[in-house]
Amino acid sequence: MRRGFSLAVSCVSVFGLLVVGSALSQDANEDEVRSFDADLGVAYIDVSSYPPEQQALYPVFAQKCSKCHTLARPINSSMTGDEWYGYVNRMSRKPGSGISPKVAEEIFSFLSYDSQVRARSASAVDPALVPVLAVSKELGGVQRIAAATRNVDPESPELRIRVDGDRRLDVKKLFQSDDGQKIARWTQREPNKAELQVLPVENLGGSAPKAAAAEASGAVADAAAEAIGNESDPEEKVELILDWLDESLEKSSWPGDQDAAAAIAAGKGDATEFTRVFCAMATAAGIPVRSRVGLVAQRTSFHFHPWAEVWLGGWMPVDPYFGQFPADLTHLRLVVDGDDELSGWDAGRYPGLDRLRLAVQIDEEEDEAPK
Ligand code: HEC
Repeated sequence: MRRGFSLAVSCVSVFGLLVVGSALSQDANEDEVRSFDADLGVAYIDVSSYPPEQQALYPVFAQKCSKCHTLARPINSSMTGDEWYGYVNRMSRKPGSGISPKVAEEIFSFLSYDSQVRARSASAVDPALVPVLAVSKELGGVQRIAAATRNVDPESPELRIRVDGDRRLDVKKLFQSDDGQKIARWTQREPNKAELQVLPVENLGGSAPKAAAAEASGAVADAAAEAIGNESDPEEKVELILDWLDESLEKSSWPGDQDAAAAIAAGKGDATEFTRVFCAMATAAGIPVRSRVGLVAQRTSFHFHPWAEVWLGGWMPVDPYFGQFPADLTHLRLVVDGDDELSGWDAGRYPGLDRLRLAVQIDEEEDEAPK
């Protein structure tokens, strides 16, 4: 069974990459999307908890750095301390900036402090990620959590991630090692800080769910019948449903919130809708399934993202949107009550979630490779 799964991963994930690649090349103007998105993001910083001297600098930054573009542009940038130093100087040298070296120094001081205490949202937005970002807006108002300077490698033997949450957030309660199995191990120092060690998922274990009666009607039943045909092996059925999704549902670049039947009728969906359709079709095929909510890494950052788990003698994560079976190890599950986490998710229950910071640890010698 395991052998079967690992074969499945390599085929499906290569395929997933191709899909992402083609979505990228379709969109000619990445830069437009990029500034557009940052400009539309939050346009103020709540400095009420900042030290008085930083609070005093905020109006300076707000006035000077909104002269030529929205203030949202620097606010939603993921630049940090040293990067800001060069950037503020570059901006101040633009003709007509009205930013003297002294003022540049003050703005740098503010941005450098701010980048240490406030989690960033989207800056460079990759068109291929727009559907994922859309889901994230729905799920938590958090668009993008920068986590690494280089692409996170889902094939690596393990991922080590430093998690740094807002003081209000008990990160241990937020992240969950699935069913006590080996997704995550904890070393915990303070409640709002932790280190996650994520290992490749083979089988999450857990106890068998009650046998689900295959049930579905209308579009979902038809889709399941079309996808599965006479196949009786559950693992094969999952593969066939993923194939069907890939052929029949277009990845929508706009957030959607339709139920499974409506998404099938529309012929497209975002990650939420893909997950709903997958769950409905798996249920129709008699495979116990549940939806999951969490973070998934794409390149150098994490995004909120839904996926599913199917019961095949143990729970196996499946990502219907990225076509991964099992879903790769960058899927970090968050704790939500109930089996249908997609419906049960309420970002409002996690104050401070929008300030979550993740840092993927990359080995030194690897890090020295040219960028
Ligand atoms: C004189 C006009 C001007 C002023 C003043 C100005 N900017 Fe800009 N900024 C630009 C232009 C033009 C761009 C487009 C990209 C470029 O030319 O680098 C830009 C782009 C940016 C970006 C997007 C960079 C990216 O690659 O995503 C950030 C962040 C930014 N500015 C921050 C600031 C900050 C911080 C300040 C205040 C210190 C500031 N800007 C003041 C003109 C200005």
